[in-house]
Amino acid sequence: THQWRGIIEEYRDRLPVSDTTPVVTLREGGTPLVPAQVLSERTGCEVHLKVEGANPTGSFKDRGMTMAISKAKEEGAKAVICASTGNTSASAAAYAVRAGMVSAVLVPQGKIALGKMGQALVHGAKILQVDGNFDDCLTLARSLSENYPVALVNSVNPVRIEGQKTAAFEIVDMLGDAPDIHVLPVGNAGNITAYWKGYKEYAADGNSTRTPRMWGFQASGSAPIVRGEVVKDPSTIATAIRIGNPASWQYALAARDESGGAIDEVTDREILRAYRLLAAQEGVFVEPASAASVAGLLKAAEEGKVDPGQRIVCTVTGNGLKDPDWAVAGAPQPVTVPVDAATAAERLGLA
Ligand code: F0G
Repeated sequence: THQWRGIIEEYRDRLPVSDTTPVVTLREGGTPLVPAQVLSERTGCEVHLKVEGANPTGSFKDRGMTMAISKAKEEGAKAVICASTGNTSASAAAYAVRAGMVSAVLVPQGKIALGKMGQALVHGAKILQVDGNFDDCLTLARSLSENYPVALVNSVNPVRIEGQKTAAFEIVDMLGDAPDIHVLPVGNAGNITAYWKGYKEYAADGNSTRTPRMWGFQASGSAPIVRGEVVKDPSTIATAIRIGNPASWQYALAARDESGGAIDEVTDREILRAYRLLAAQEGVFVEPASAASVAGLLKAAEEGKVDPGQRIVCTVTGNGLKDPDWAVAGAPQPVTVPVDAATAAERLGLA
């Protein structure tokens, strides 16, 4: 009769909530930390996957959204708005339903995965497809929240980061200490900021003996932090991280530098290779952007940058069902058979 209560109740003393904050939750967090056998063999390390696609709306965004929507409700907001490459909007739409609020979402036209669009639609969000990229959407969302009665729930809202830092707590609680290295995909850079904050807080309070090195990976066509300059027209098949001017840029640099970590890039080809490896060899189906962390780890290992024997956690940020096109693309069409066991057995290679 006991179930995980959601990140606010599980980590209440570490979050900016009070007894009077209305908790809007879908019981997010408490996600699996899965040992990755093939990745461990390839790197000579102990690799774990933090499977954030197991959250209620299928991505890590739910951790931040339970906080953002709860605080917005506490402050009396009737409507929330966000810019999104898809997952934030799916999460905002669902949590707004729980809170009895209206949600408005701004997405880059033609550049969000179908599953995410479906989520926003079915949860009743007001959706505008913006003739621009994510960065344009965020500029627009900020401007609307400053001039109209609508609360901004993007990760530039600091309570989003507070919620997302709980993933680091869960990892330390599970492993008994922080890992040596934590690997993440980087888009708007909110999540790497949040994990670093979480690891630092836990270490400062004696819940861990150390903090990990933070390794972030951007897609090569959308790698402003790696290049050191804004990318005007970002491109990558990993639409979730197709971002040219990350809002938390400076915090990502701080996470990298304070932790002795690195922020590097991976190509779309490397992302898709890791995406297929995760599904076909680890049994974990993620969306392409999520595979950037694993692609980065494999690249670093191939470059001899990963000393064996370390404990490494890769966050895989979103569920593969969000963007199934990439699973189907290039795969052989299933054959059709009559209702006949002999034929089926022959086609399955059993006979
Ligand atoms: N992975 C997935 C699946 C995401 O949806 C995002 C961001 C990231 C990684 C990158 O995280 O932005 O904190 O560095 N998605 C945002 C959205 C931008 O609108 O859903 P980040």
